[in-house]
Amino acid sequence: MSFYEYRWWKEAIGYEIYLKSFKDSNGDGIGDINGIREKLDYLKDLGITLIWLCPFYKSPMDDNGYDVSDYYDIDPSFGTLDDMKALIAEAHEKGIRIIADFVMNQTSDEHQWFIESRKSKDNPYRDYYIWADGRIMDGVEVEPTNWASFFGGSCWEKDLLTGQYYMKIFSKKMPDLNWSNPNVRTSMQDIAKFWLDLGIDGFRVDAVAHIGRRKDLVDSTIETNDKYKPDWRMFSNLPVLFDYLKEFNQEVWSKYDIMTVGEVGGGATADEANKYAEVKDGSMDMVFNFDHCWHNNVWDMKEIGDPIKVNLVSLKQVWKKWQKGQYGKAWMPIYWLNHDQPRLMSQYGNPDKPFLSGSMLGQALYLMWGTPFVYQGEEIGMTNYPFKSVNDFNDVSVKTTYNLHVINGDANEEEFIHFTGLRSRDNARTIMSWDDSKNAGFSEAKPWFNVCPDYTLVNVKKNLTDEKSIYKHYQKIFKLRKDKHYLNTLVYGSYKQLLPKHERVYAYVREADKLILTVTNFFDTTEPVSIRGYKVSKILLSNYEDSKTTLSNLTLRPYEAVTYLIEKR
Ligand code: GLC
Ligand code: CA
Repeated sequence: MSFYEYRWWKEAIGYEIYLKSFKDSNGDGIGDINGIREKLDYLKDLGITLIWLCPFYKSPMDDNGYDVSDYYDIDPSFGTLDDMKALIAEAHEKGIRIIADFVMNQTSDEHQWFIESRKSKDNPYRDYYIWADGRIMDGVEVEPTNWASFFGGSCWEKDLLTGQYYMKIFSKKMPDLNWSNPNVRTSMQDIAKFWLDLGIDGFRVDAVAHIGRRKDLVDSTIETNDKYKPDWRMFSNLPVLFDYLKEFNQEVWSKYDIMTVGEVGGGATADEANKYAEVKDGSMDMVFNFDHCWHNNVWDMKEIGDPIKVNLVSLKQVWKKWQKGQYGKAWMPIYWLNHDQPRLMSQYGNPDKPFLSGSMLGQALYLMWGTPFVYQGEEIGMTNYPFKSVNDFNDVSVKTTYNLHVINGDANEEEFIHFTGLRSRDNARTIMSWDDSKNAGFSEAKPWFNVCPDYTLVNVKKNLTDEKSIYKHYQKIFKLRKDKHYLNTLVYGSYKQLLPKHERVYAYVREADKLILTVTNFFDTTEPVSIRGYKVSKILLSNYEDSKTTLSNLTLRPYEAVTYLIEKR
């Protein structure tokens, strides 16, 4: 396959659904599969042709479904296998494909494999997981290595039954699978086949960067004050995982007309990402990186009350790195946020000017190269939740770090809540605001999680009735991407960034059979800019009615976003 060859997923418009918070159909306060069925037309009208469905498998919900106890069944709180079959059939009828989140790195500790595995050292399932002895240091037993878990604390947990430690890079209820065991690999392949045969159109492969492990258990030597070192190189992007993926692709994925998108996350370089998804030799179709996340000050804020400041220049640098580094080599998704990030409107937008800032952000991103993935609620401008106490959070990683740093450490409670509130994944997991009625139209019953207090103003119903709304602007963006005159340029065209040093304006040209320029002002300011070498043929899309067309002498108003069909001078 060549980079430019047609595959349905290159032209798709994706939408991520965090099932638990999307729509409750049966009045128990928990989002479910039938809730999605009710909203398929809503998604279709937005222009969506692909759904990424977060884990729906049977789960004790320690990490809301990323801890799977049975891969062959649906969690009863989400519905039944029949509901899933009906969802797939109805979505397909509307031209929407569905990919499932596939959790390959770990299972729940309540999965049958782990229940067996922990029983004894010679249990046939022992090697499904990664077990090691502790070490004695200064007369005290410590973990096999000093590696940290992503969710706080050590990445090892001692199991009293056999006295050994099992590896868990997430929560202690999420033991890591041992992919060097061929039985693990074939068991996982069987699961994938089961869902593909049921009609699923592919997978978003969770935490795929971590499935290859090093054999030697050496301590990390990175210098931090922490007892456990966040040295992700110890178990991320290691060469052996590409063998596992190659085999998986040969045995399963390559036999179906599907798409696979891996979660590769932070730290991976464009070259590393190319290894996963290279057109020639890669085993996956594309991978998510996290590089565009956090280009503001929320991780180094000093004082409660400090304003959020966006660093557009560094954001533009990472776009340049990926848009140029992977173009022609490996396909790529583009997205603003997912269920592990705070809300876009609160991160990079302006909740006081929701339409202008929200429409600008959509237009800036989704006319770049790559397959778009909208995260539920982004299209209506949902905002972060005002967390006041640790009880307002649900995320197991927040609870773990709270216990470590506030209860048993020396972190200040008020600061912990404030700063965690700005960064927390729970911001994305508040229930979807459908309308201004009770429980934001999500459920008859009290929802399982927070309702955003601004739901009377920020909701789907209002977006659908307002003349100008983010939802309607997103509709226009996706219509433009699919327009037969521009599709070739917007989907397959190259990318060139203009004005790279400008601190407030982001501009880029896409080029194939046509030339399309997008110019956006990321701030609440008026920006004079001059772009030379091109002239405007026409305006294709703008979030203002009367945008200027003299490129050498433009004045962008607050959050103005304009896309032009242009010609070279
Ligand atoms: C991924 C998921 C995240 C989950 C973790 C463990 O990063 O996106 O939500 O907690 O993997 O499965
Ligand atoms: Ca329900």
